[in-house]
Amino acid sequence: MDFTQEDKKKKLYIETYGCQMNFSDSEIVGSIMADKGFEATDNMSLADVIFVNTCSIRDHAEQRVRKRLREFRALKKKNPGLVIGVLGCMAERLKTKLLEEEDHVDMIIGPDAYRDLPQLIETVESGQKAINILLSAEETYADIKPVRIGSNGVSAFISIMRGCENFCAYCVVPYTRGKERSRDPQSIMGEAKDLFNRGFREITLLGQNVNSYRWKTTREELNFAGLLEKVAGVSPLLRIRFATSHPKDLSDELLHTMAGNPNICRSIHLPVQSGSNRMLERMNRKYTREWYMDRVNAIKRIIPGCGLSTDIICGFSGETEEDHRETLSLMKWTGYDYAFMFKYSERPNTIAEKKFKDDVPEELKGKRLQEVIALQQELSLASNREDVGKTFEVLVEGLSKKSDRMLSGRNSQNKVVVFPRENYGRGDYVMVRINDCTPATLIGEPVPGPETQV
Ligand code: SAH
Ligand code: SF4
Ligand code: F3S
Repeated sequence: MDFTQEDKKKKLYIETYGCQMNFSDSEIVGSIMADKGFEATDNMSLADVIFVNTCSIRDHAEQRVRKRLREFRALKKKNPGLVIGVLGCMAERLKTKLLEEEDHVDMIIGPDAYRDLPQLIETVESGQKAINILLSAEETYADIKPVRIGSNGVSAFISIMRGCENFCAYCVVPYTRGKERSRDPQSIMGEAKDLFNRGFREITLLGQNVNSYRWKTTREELNFAGLLEKVAGVSPLLRIRFATSHPKDLSDELLHTMAGNPNICRSIHLPVQSGSNRMLERMNRKYTREWYMDRVNAIKRIIPGCGLSTDIICGFSGETEEDHRETLSLMKWTGYDYAFMFKYSERPNTIAEKKFKDDVPEELKGKRLQEVIALQQELSLASNREDVGKTFEVLVEGLSKKSDRMLSGRNSQNKVVVFPRENYGRGDYVMVRINDCTPATLIGEPVPGPETQV
């Protein structure tokens, strides 16, 4: 082997913030940079190029990146040849302003411009700053085979659509990610099959709004339910998950497709944001509390035992105590297994910023968030207690964080299950009977059972 050749490879360090889409994008970036001769490193002090793939969803997300950029400034002082690039949603939102405010940053690249990275690197190497923040109506990176970063070798993400045109009043995503577009199903199938052949056993189909996936050519028309059915056909041993679904597009057809395919996981992430119709309208969510409840009823009817999780925003503009109580009551009614809960953070240039006042005091937002979190703790614990005594098929992801004598994996409902290691390993399907639980974890023991079903 020619080690000198290897040593000459330039090193790339990527740090990723934000949603799963961003993590998936970093894998595309890794692949484009590998073709340009870069090798990934997880040691940033060895890096020739540092990329930060950023998120703008809340102010706090941006502040974290700003802090990190200050730390990179010190690295650049020591190594003036170091190239620093800001990628993703903050790059798209702040554009050249970011170059002015952070003068040690060399490159600004928006989420649809990653194919241009090799050229932009050359621009920087010639001594100039480089920027490409063009959004595209077509780019899906369909033909790029992502490198898997930080993978456990069992689960992987496949991006199936990009962008969002829902324009929820509080949200920056339509501005940072551009128009909604779906990826060619053939390339999705190719990626799914390849992952399965390489030993992966679970894939998550990703998009801001996966259930509005639509592929249309003169020969073919495919919606999300159709795509799910196709991907589920790769192998009964391959588990399929998807995120995120918008309640307005959650069709019975999709639920029936899930019900008919046991390897499509019994778990739906259905962000509600608020339980108050007044808030939902102001948020431009395009559904009502009643519509949402009807969809939850449909899930419970068509897929009994399906896991349900959600996103909640506390303290959106104009939110009263009564609106807040409506959120709490809807949470109880649904009985979520899990929730991501946030304080409203006003984002520049969104509809809410232009039309409404951010008028719920910070302290009150915090108080409401605490109430929502406390309720969700109770709901998660109650949901986990219901599972004690049941047996689930668990896909093993690796050792448990707490003990190397225990394995950790998930059941189809997306709950974390830990159990004694015995002779099982990563990627195995194990039948586990649940004996105990915490609000976050089910604890059990392996029992004999079929190992070939999901
Ligand atoms: N596309 C997904 C998720 C987008 S971002 C969806 O439509 O549900 C993930 C979550 O961040 C959102 O569901 C919302 O709960 C939260 N979020 C988005 N903008 C926010 C803001 N300005 N302040 C606080 N939370 C926000
Ligand atoms: Fe944002 Fe709404 Fe689009 Fe989700 S659906 S990304 S919350 S605008
Ligand atoms: Fe953040 Fe952009 Fe995702 S704003 S949540 S990284 S789409």
